[in-house]
Amino acid sequence: MLTQPVQEAINHQIKSELHSAYLYLAMSAYCESLNLRGFAHWMRMQSQEELSHALKLFDYVNDRGGRVILQAIDAPPVDFKSPLEMAQETLAHERKVTAMINALYEVALQEHDYATQVHLQWFLTEQVEEEKNASEIVERLRLIGGQSAGLLMFDRELGARNTAE
Ligand code: FEO
Repeated sequence: MLTQPVQEAINHQIKSELHSAYLYLAMSAYCESLNLRGFAHWMRMQSQEELSHALKLFDYVNDRGGRVILQAIDAPPVDFKSPLEMAQETLAHERKVTAMINALYEVALQEHDYATQVHLQWFLTEQVEEEKNASEIVERLRLIGGQSAGLLMFDRELGARNTAE
């Protein structure tokens, strides 16, 4: 059984993961509008990955005999100034998610919920990867600058992503 504070905190995180999925899908739509199909594909995969994070927590709440309570999700932005600005927003967003997972872990510690602490280990490790990936995209786009040949080459590279993990 989950304690009320842990259940509430996980339900809040489910909402945050779904919000991330929505945000990255909005970014995918923005990239489609620029005909950057590789970026759009990468962001779509990222959106699917976030959905899988939400479902991992969804299943966990149910496995522990808790109750999933879904919450309203704010509309994501429609436009971004540039692919670089979009990538910077992705990185800032992932840093915020890391802080949320840390706060959730803190609740599990306070509640002496050891099983939740173990479950959250996966998310802590995942956030290292998420920040690294976003940071690499920011750095590549900074290097490319305004060169469209470089941007198109990077677009092709991102289009090769074949897993939502
Ligand atoms: Fe669910 Fe991008 O972290």
